[in-house]
Amino acid sequence: MPTWRDGKLGLPVRDAVKLFPELEEYIDERGRLDLSNRRARVLYNRAISRAVFGLDIEYHPKGLVTTPVSRYLFLKTFLRGGERVLEIGTGHTAMMALMAEKIFNCEVTATELDDEFFEYARRNIERNRARVRLLKSNGGVIHGVVPEGERFDVIFSAPPYYEAPTKGVLTEREGVGGGRYGEEFSVRLIEEALDYLKPGGKVALFLPDKEPLIDSITKMGEELGYSIKDVRFKAGTRWRHSLILAL
Ligand SMILES: C[S@@+](CC[C@H](N)C(=O)[O-])C[C@H]1O[C@@H](n2cnc3c(N)ncnc32)[C@H](O)[C@@H]1O
Repeated sequence: MPTWRDGKLGLPVRDAVKLFPELEEYIDERGRLDLSNRRARVLYNRAISRAVFGLDIEYHPKGLVTTPVSRYLFLKTFLRGGERVLEIGTGHTAMMALMAEKIFNCEVTATELDDEFFEYARRNIERNRARVRLLKSNGGVIHGVVPEGERFDVIFSAPPYYEAPTKGVLTEREGVGGGRYGEEFSVRLIEEALDYLKPGGKVALFLPDKEPLIDSITKMGEELGYSIKDVRFKAGTRWRHSLILAL
């Protein structure tokens, strides 16, 4: 399992600066990093990716600043190693697809809708010499994107989950899930997944600590015949959920 010196997941700021000396300009006299600054966040997360997970990641200038520890903790809630997996919406970093391949030895297919994010993802996969099959979505979620007849042990996603566009933090495609609570994208995913899962397969969704969203996806999942487990975990100061829907 990936760790840093003291056995914990994460990276002291002073060690991050050794990897990316440019970080120095965002550190105050008490050694605290200004994480309100986007460039500082990107550099710090690139340092964690490299030091803790052995991944070299380039971030799109406007994309979500994906945090590696939260993504790894999520994957650990449902991957045991060696599974055939599909990630929907890998984003510009392709970070979860790369971790699934490099750390969990999975056979990975990943999709992305946005043209520029797709190109960044392709380059991140290439840069890390990973065997990840990347598929371009034309707006579809699974149907029409992944060839019919393919079956996976796990289909996972950090889906867009806002009900409406948010200011500044995410691009619209990253953020807007649609529906009353932002559940629409996830509901479509779990419906379509029924045709692409192996018997006993599962869907896993990375979700925020937002009860109405989780309740609405859970309700729909139960109607579709899944049995559902909600694993709550802490990433930094935030609670996150891994919603696991099993056949
Ligand atoms: C919340 S972001 C998550 C990105 C990344 N997986 C992560 O863990 O940070 C959702 C991603 O899904 C992509 N996306 C939105 N609709 C999609 C679709 N229909 N098919 C594939 N990707 C899609 C967005 O462009 C964005 O990159």
